[in-house]
Amino acid sequence: MAAAQTPTNIPLLTPYRMGNFNLSHRVVLAPLTRQRSYNNVPQPHAVLYYSQRTSNGGLLIAEATGVSATAQGYPETPGIWTNEQVEAWKPIVDAVHAKGGIFFCQIWHVGRVSNSGFQPNGQAPISSTDKPLIQSDGFGVFTPPRRLRTDEIPGIVNDFRLAARNAMEAGFDGVEIHGAHGYLIDQFLKDHVNDRTDEYGGSLENRCRFALEVVEAIADEIGADKVGIRLSPFAEFMESKDSNPYALGLHIIQSLNKCGILYCHVVEPRMKNALDASECSDNLLPLRKAFNGTFIAAGGYNREEGNKAVAENRADLVAYGRWFLANPDLPKRFELNAPLNKYNRETFYIPDPVLGYTDYPFLETALSHEEV
Ligand SMILES: Cc1cc2nc3c(=O)[nH]c(=O)nc-3n(C[C@H](O)[C@H](O)[C@H](O)COP(=O)(O)O)c2cc1C
Repeated sequence: MAAAQTPTNIPLLTPYRMGNFNLSHRVVLAPLTRQRSYNNVPQPHAVLYYSQRTSNGGLLIAEATGVSATAQGYPETPGIWTNEQVEAWKPIVDAVHAKGGIFFCQIWHVGRVSNSGFQPNGQAPISSTDKPLIQSDGFGVFTPPRRLRTDEIPGIVNDFRLAARNAMEAGFDGVEIHGAHGYLIDQFLKDHVNDRTDEYGGSLENRCRFALEVVEAIADEIGADKVGIRLSPFAEFMESKDSNPYALGLHIIQSLNKCGILYCHVVEPRMKNALDASECSDNLLPLRKAFNGTFIAAGGYNREEGNKAVAENRADLVAYGRWFLANPDLPKRFELNAPLNKYNRETFYIPDPVLGYTDYPFLETALSHEEV
């Protein structure tokens, strides 16, 4: 094992001021869908799960949370469109705050990554297109979507706005708009999916219109200083691919600068399928340089690479998914250069309230187990 470093030597563990938030370090909990919110209502076991991953001054991003009844596409994922859901989030948010964490809610609409079984009255999922999703990447069965009419789009934008308002009512510090990984916003952004001929399709400006309307509506509602967005221009997950990811990323980022939002959270080009890294020569530097606010990078990072990204000013913050899932005390382990628990893919998406969720050991426990 490499010698333990002191916190001052580790770029990841240096403080960072993100807008009005004073972060004590740069190790962010990435949004992680856990499918344990029965009937789309966050459960008491999430109190323990999120508080385990909270550190004083650490930033956490909650799992993707549905903005409306048509937003869902996976079993037992949480929502934030009903009073019951808002009330259920409150103790979870309180627990994070009690330990000094800063908590953003990731809000999403899955669009065509759904099937009629998840939809109200068994209707078809909605999307930018009526092109069906064929390959499931092992993530279920999909019903061909219905293309949203132009006049329906303001209603969906409004669903995002209301969800953001509800997130603030639940006590979250802000929201992260899920514009990545082939879900509804990405279905508008990417030219391999968006085949519209109205003002929401065709040119870069038109394909970015829906995303920017969502951003503006939410910024108007809760304040731009509480809004982040996640983007994955390079990813091809859920058959959502673009022929020019750099142009797309730069265009949307330049427009986001005008809105003055707090942060932009971008998934590394190496994460083509959202979950596994592959060889890739592209990088996020042009996007990082273009964005005026806080830049969060994610995807395939370990301790060393995260330190390097911060030291070289390629990111302000680094979000960790699988390592944080399996190591509730990840910042502490990075600080001590301690060994990490391995993650278990088999339990990523099971509905159990404990297994693969709140039972990953903390360092003290892991070490004392090793000793016996
Ligand atoms: C179990 C699991 C659930 C995920 N859920 C979400 C999600 O809800 N929203 C999102 O934007 N990304 C989601 N992701 C992607 C992660 O946020 C992250 O980008 C990905 O795991 C790559 O980062 P890593 O190499 O640090 O794990 C998920 C990944 C995993 C493994």
